[in-house]
Amino acid sequence: MHLKSKDLLGIEQLSSEEITLILNTATTMKKVLVQPTKKTSHLQGKSVVNLFFENSTRTRMSFEMAAKYMGAASVNISSSGSSVNKGETLLDTAVTIDMMATDFLVIRHQQSGAAEFLAKRVKASVINAGDGMHEHPTQALLDIFTMRDKLGHLDKLKVAIIGDCLHSRVFRSNLLALTKLGSEVWVSGPASLMPLDVESTGAKYTKHVEEAIKDADVVMSLRIQLERIEKGLFPSVNEYFRYYGLDDKKIKLAKKNALVMHPGPANRGVEINSALYESDQSVISEQVTNGVAVRMAVLYLLSLRRNVYERENL
Ligand code: CP
Repeated sequence: MHLKSKDLLGIEQLSSEEITLILNTATTMKKVLVQPTKKTSHLQGKSVVNLFFENSTRTRMSFEMAAKYMGAASVNISSSGSSVNKGETLLDTAVTIDMMATDFLVIRHQQSGAAEFLAKRVKASVINAGDGMHEHPTQALLDIFTMRDKLGHLDKLKVAIIGDCLHSRVFRSNLLALTKLGSEVWVSGPASLMPLDVESTGAKYTKHVEEAIKDADVVMSLRIQLERIEKGLFPSVNEYFRYYGLDDKKIKLAKKNALVMHPGPANRGVEINSALYESDQSVISEQVTNGVAVRMAVLYLLSLRRNVYERENL
């Protein structure tokens, strides 16, 4: 079985079978990460360009490491050090990169739809590393990979997602992935940080954070997206933590040994307190490691798809 598209633009375009294929492949890739010599030849002779218009530590670095572990050449470009600062457009920048025989273009951009816009216009496989408030598909894939790895399945889990759902592409991608695989997503957070149509997305909304967390298998706190939040939508930090911040008291409402997750970067003392972040229930560090395995799987599966795509276009 191959991925249907040459690109990975969002969870929305993936079938549940494709998601499972990526998770299974990531399980194999994770074994490479624990080897003393982390090297495969799956992407030998291929090139990966990471084009990031927004800040990133985890996503950009894990794509770079994933590419290198599999033998590809990997290059990072950020808007600040590129000709974008001289006025070059996004499209001209992407076409320039494409003309250098690039196989994979990993893009993070503040505009929703940026990855899809480029995918139609370049030969490279475009991977969405986060587009505005729309999707962050590889984050959701690593999140559900971590859940499956720890809990053994993704069927009928209760996953509570707490915080700024309105601005969160992580929320949107996780909601799509979890509902496609048969789990239930509960959300809670300030009403000003909830999408107006949150219930029509398939999530169950409650203004009582305790109700969302009660008997949950997984509790995920989201980062407050201060860079996207309009003035006045956000209560004070202290008030936010009191009502929505994860701590020992709130997590006791979840199932015993429920997973505590955060996509990172976390604001400690705002979205989650330090004790819980570092507790045995927290899998936040494992999410980071699994991010490399999942990105290796995505690059590998897209390279198989590219082989088919190149044959079809001969
Ligand atoms: N979770 C996430 O996307 O982190 P970065 O912004 O560090 O890539």
